[in-house]
Amino acid sequence: MKIKASANGPYLIEVTEATLRKGDTEEKIERKTIALCRCGHSANKPFCDGAHKNAGFEADAVELEVN
Ligand code: FES
Repeated sequence: MKIKASANGPYLIEVTEATLRKGDTEEKIERKTIALCRCGHSANKPFCDGAHKNAGFEADAVELEVN
């Protein structure tokens, strides 16, 4: 699995299907890329909602490969 973090933005994970469990709810996610907040300002955590732009979040782009 490869996890990328865009410069000044979210973690980007490429998937074919994922399941989000929150409390008693479960949501199937079928996207090519999931953007997870790493700035802490999203109103839709764990997903990025673009709030990092107005928050002035700054961080380097990184890439983590998990074997
Ligand atoms: S990284 Fe985009 S809202 Fe936090």
